[in-house]
Amino acid sequence: MNIPPDQLYLDLLKKTLSFSLWPDPPVPAETFAYRRSALSRSAVTLAGKALKRGRYRLVEDRQFSRQQREDGMIWPGYADTMIGLKRLDNLQQCIESALRDDVPGDIIETGVWRGGACILARAVLAAHGVTDRRVFVADSFEGLPKPDADTHPADKDDTHHVHGFLAISQEQVAENFRKYGLLDGQVVFLKGWFKDTLPTAPIERLAVMRLDGDMYGSTIDALNSLYPRLSSGGYCIIDDYALEGCKQAVTDYRAAHGIHAEMTAIDWTGTYWRKA
Ligand SMILES: C[S@@+](CC[C@H](N)C(=O)[O-])C[C@H]1O[C@@H](n2cnc3c(N)ncnc32)[C@H](O)[C@@H]1O
Repeated sequence: MNIPPDQLYLDLLKKTLSFSLWPDPPVPAETFAYRRSALSRSAVTLAGKALKRGRYRLVEDRQFSRQQREDGMIWPGYADTMIGLKRLDNLQQCIESALRDDVPGDIIETGVWRGGACILARAVLAAHGVTDRRVFVADSFEGLPKPDADTHPADKDDTHHVHGFLAISQEQVAENFRKYGLLDGQVVFLKGWFKDTLPTAPIERLAVMRLDGDMYGSTIDALNSLYPRLSSGGYCIIDDYALEGCKQAVTDYRAAHGIHAEMTAIDWTGTYWRKA
């Protein structure tokens, strides 16, 4: 086997972050309880409490195929990222290409959830001995915003904000970085709604921007603030192109700014282009 140690490390990390090495164990029943009716929620709470007294736990078995998990098609119980292996590979490739070509700037992900994709970004810098670029970790750390249909009609019926599963605190994300030994001064947290944090974010130039905010508003806010700061030769990665709102935002932004760079599909939802 002739694989360089840095690549072996990054391969193992991607499998670990995406929890691809193991079958997904059942999740505690309370994890998705918010989706149930009030009656069923109370039943789950009561049964859970009774079991806990006997040091047992009420869990929900979720069966997914290996393909669904590897392709990032599910909301995983235990992985530190939900984007799947192909999109993790793409993120690594974009960063490594930018490093090889000396494309100036930092890296940002807008919409980080448990932080796994940003952890990989920090690891890629570490594996290549890069000490002068930062990874910006932008999130509300409290889930998605309620849709603002006046400003962004495309988000009118969006229900992402009801999903408590998508709200992960900054402390938890920092802890996830720490667990992999990758929390340091090159990791910068931007806490708050993108429309408030991104315009004034202390970023001069970006080499890679990865947008994963699901909604029209979250995508267009990130594009408006960040794309002008993306270096020529830098990469713009869109995670949610399969979602109508996100796709519309990308289409609108590219049309308004005359962007014709070819878009390349990563998998069933991810896509990216390189800035001319
Ligand atoms: C699908 S998750 C991101 C998945 C993540 N990239 C991963 O690797 O698993 C979407 C995230 O975007 C955040 N988010 C969406 N819209 C936002 C906004 N307008 N401002 C701040 N955070 C936002 C949510 O809090 C959530 O953590």
